[in-house]
Amino acid sequence: MVNFLHRAKAALSPVSAHATEIEVSHGKGCYLVDTKGKAYLDFTSGLGVCSTGHCHPEVVSAIQNQAASLIHGCLGIVYYEPPIALAEKIGQILGGSETNLTSIFFTQSGSEAMETAIKLAKYVTKKHKLVAFRGGFHGRTLGALSVTTSKEKYRAGYEPLLEGVSFFPYPYCYRCPWGRERATCEVYCADHELAPYLEALDNQVAAVIIEPVLGEGGYTFAPKEFIQKLVQKCREKGILVIFDEIQSGIGKTGTWFAFQQLDVAPDIVTIAKGIGSGLPLGACVSTPEIMNQWTKGAHGGTYGGNPVTCAAGLASLKVIEKALPAVAGLGKLVLERLQSELKDHPFVGEIRGQGLMIGIELVTDKVAKTPGVELVKTVLKKCLDQYLIVVSCGIEDNVIRLIPPLTITESELHKGLDILISVIHELH
Ligand SMILES: Cc1ncc(COP(=O)(O)O)c(C=O)c1O
Repeated sequence: MVNFLHRAKAALSPVSAHATEIEVSHGKGCYLVDTKGKAYLDFTSGLGVCSTGHCHPEVVSAIQNQAASLIHGCLGIVYYEPPIALAEKIGQILGGSETNLTSIFFTQSGSEAMETAIKLAKYVTKKHKLVAFRGGFHGRTLGALSVTTSKEKYRAGYEPLLEGVSFFPYPYCYRCPWGRERATCEVYCADHELAPYLEALDNQVAAVIIEPVLGEGGYTFAPKEFIQKLVQKCREKGILVIFDEIQSGIGKTGTWFAFQQLDVAPDIVTIAKGIGSGLPLGACVSTPEIMNQWTKGAHGGTYGGNPVTCAAGLASLKVIEKALPAVAGLGKLVLERLQSELKDHPFVGEIRGQGLMIGIELVTDKVAKTPGVELVKTVLKKCLDQYLIVVSCGIEDNVIRLIPPLTITESELHKGLDILISVIHELH
């Protein structure tokens, strides 16, 4: 009995949105195969999760081996290898002398990693206020939702949320909130807007939370100087800096973490998605100095550091370590092709990306920059008709979001781009 669609409608809560109605039988590499045997090229990686591709053999075998020896023990009761080995590995990746981000708390999701980060920041600073950025997405649980503004419908019906949260405009350069031109602005926002804003805050702010790459909000990249000035200002004021790298981390931008290209060190980093290849795994990472201020038992959970998810995490990091040196080059190839074939298209407002995290912002009018919401819907539908799965992002949902697995080959990338580019050319 297949008929997933019909049964899902009857049995699953209708609250979850579905980008497609594809009924999947299995996945392999960059492909999802439906129940009729048709293979779809998946440029979404299950929303930025399967960076090793679907069912990578090394990840599958790590999960199988671990499941056969220990599925759960509870870190609150005993110790076992996978979470410790994975934490050591993350510490090696993140813990250079500048950052010292070597103390890790494991979670089951990105939202829970954000809850952990928020609780940690409040606990150690003994302050309760938070600053987040407009358009940011940090999750659906109540704390994470309190700092999320990427879509109104996420918050509607749940307010009041956490008190003491204020929002600053994200430096979305294509749509500069301060009406400046990127080429000439000299990061006006950092000195003239952000600095006085932070200056005016009272001394009750525990943390500033930012995605160095705005994910759900539109695949836009905060300027390096902006982030540097933000971190510097926070340091001066004793405010902790939390980087949400749940979407942008684990190799997607060509380095393990996007912030590693920015010459800054946050106090706390959140991770999820790509680290688990699909198993529910997230982490909140900070320095031992900060983590050591958290009283034993002040936070915890039954499943955090689960042996099977952490074994999947370790195997995923090994696969990604091998793929990582090629990611920047693959991203360049995509950007160059998109630029050369689409730059002058009347509906293509901006093409932007780093590594394999790429956005194409569609507009109906290049001067007014009117969001091309229907255009994007048409593109996604037509790509699907040709067996390419692509999703959108953006506050207005007018950005085509490309996040293929990091293990993708050049020929698979070109195959997808052939379809995407021809579909965009058909727009009128
Ligand atoms: C930047 C960012 N933060 C947090 C989350 C929430 O993660 P999860 O869906 O695993 O709770 C997401 C998910 O899309 C995300 O992209």
